[in-house]
Amino acid sequence: MAEEIITIERHILEMQRGHPTATGVFTNLLYDIALAAKVIARETTRAGLVEILGLAGKMNVQGEAQMKLDVFANQVMIRMNSYTGRLCVMASEEEPEIITIPEGYPTGPYVLVFDPLDGSSNIDVNVSIGTIFGIYRRVSAGGPGTVEDCLQPGNRLVAAGYVIYGASTMMVYSTGQGVHGFTLDPGVGEFLLSHPNIRIPERPKYFSTNLGYQRYWSPGVVEYTRWLQGMGDEPVSSLSLRYIGSLVADFHRNLLDGGVFYYPADTRDPKTPHGKLRLLYEAAPLAFIARNAGGYASDGRQPIEDIVPTSLHQRTPLFIGSRDLVEKAEVFIGRYDQ
Ligand code: AHG
Ligand code: MN
Ligand code: MN
Repeated sequence: MAEEIITIERHILEMQRGHPTATGVFTNLLYDIALAAKVIARETTRAGLVEILGLAGKMNVQGEAQMKLDVFANQVMIRMNSYTGRLCVMASEEEPEIITIPEGYPTGPYVLVFDPLDGSSNIDVNVSIGTIFGIYRRVSAGGPGTVEDCLQPGNRLVAAGYVIYGASTMMVYSTGQGVHGFTLDPGVGEFLLSHPNIRIPERPKYFSTNLGYQRYWSPGVVEYTRWLQGMGDEPVSSLSLRYIGSLVADFHRNLLDGGVFYYPADTRDPKTPHGKLRLLYEAAPLAFIARNAGGYASDGRQPIEDIVPTSLHQRTPLFIGSRDLVEKAEVFIGRYDQ
């Protein structure tokens, strides 16, 4: 029996049927993000060709200013969502302040936060990169959205997801009813359901972290890392180390195969004692995904989803993936760190 072919649009529509009160605004917002992902995906496959096709430098053959992929991805996300009347405000890793809806255009009930291109240091070496997004309901009464609409904890997310531009382009999202993965068929330009109901496997395979920074970690994190490698005094199934330096790619591997990714606080720079990753548009959306796939995400002491942001670009330590491995990090930090 041929397997049913389900596009992401149909899947989102079917998810909406689970919410009789849904007005379709939320459904259309997810469509828009899927469309933005297709536009960005097309550009990522050309990234390496920029020099060859003479698109380099300031002006490309179409007379447009040639832009870096993360600037391009940021503009696609903003333009795709500014005029639809579905959002009241946006926040992006690439924008210092909130992104308001342009004058004369309607505002809507939702808030979009996103990292338009994650892992940008990997673009030039052809390693997988991604886009991360989270969707909140607005908290302000009406009119233009405010920064308070963006500074909501992860446990207020109504949906979150990511796109991974790798060997194939995949979009993974959750609205709280399971986590579902779609693979882009570039031939027809559709995301087709390829990974329904993703659950993090019971038995983890990997741990992902940048051991190059181990000398900056707290004693608890150093002991945790020894434990993961089977060098501690407690037994653990031996795990393989896999680290690609693209959060989306590292997270996706641990979601599908089981494991833990962590980017801990480091003592190197008093300005960023909380590590490198950002709470609002990296840690919290992925924490929502991890939990809906049976996993967990912590800052080493508390659930990521419980942290109420106080600024758009605030950073947080992140331990995310298989629940028991993440909880073990909290045990070591609780035991060894003040
Ligand atoms: P971004 O490209 O959006 O700034 O994110 C990069 C992040 C994340 O993708 C990855 O996990 C981390 O940087 C890697 O950092 P290190 O190179 O310090 O390990
Ligand atoms: Mn990022
Ligand atoms: Mn980024």
